[in-house]
Amino acid sequence: MLPAYLPNPVAAALGGGKPIDGGRCWRDGRRIFGDGKTVRGLIAGIAGGVAIGLLQILVHSHAEIVWLPEHTLVSITLLAVGALLGDLAKSFLKRRRGVERGEKWPVADQFDLVIGAFILLLIFDPGWLFSTITIPIAIAILILTPVLHRGTNIIGYILGIKDVPW
Ligand code: CTP
Ligand code: MG
Repeated sequence: MLPAYLPNPVAAALGGGKPIDGGRCWRDGRRIFGDGKTVRGLIAGIAGGVAIGLLQILVHSHAEIVWLPEHTLVSITLLAVGALLGDLAKSFLKRRRGVERGEKWPVADQFDLVIGAFILLLIFDPGWLFSTITIPIAIAILILTPVLHRGTNIIGYILGIKDVPW
């Protein structure tokens, strides 16, 4: 799951500048995505996720780590792109519900990346999804994701990368 987990912290650390929506508003008069979703964050985040995935593929090809599922260029790309598309879709829905940028939206804030990544895998690489994400792994993801999300956001807040600890 590293290619899906890394894009968010990388986007938080390296993002900024031009927002993806270009400052434009939706029909409801609220921002389409908001200032928290930037072009640089999107590109850097996807690059970060793909980079860690490539490292995983490299390590796997040099060591016999049979208990680790195998990645492909397609699987790591879908995980990284899906994670940030999920994050973007969540921000779109937050704005439609009148939730301000940076304001909490429990559950959605934690699982957006997993939902986005799995939807892309389901469409473009269902074989990998179903052979790799078995029931025990799915349960581990369900438990680990909110824990890692909260943990990294607290660290990001302490380091001054994030404005809020969620
Ligand atoms: N970020 C970015 N580009 C992205 C995603 C994130 O630049 N595509 C950066 C922004 O600086 C953002 C930070 O990462 O503030 C934290 O991301 P997140 O918590 O997802 O954004 P929020 O600011 O909380 O905005 P929202 O309410 O829309 O989730
Ligand atoms: Mg947030």
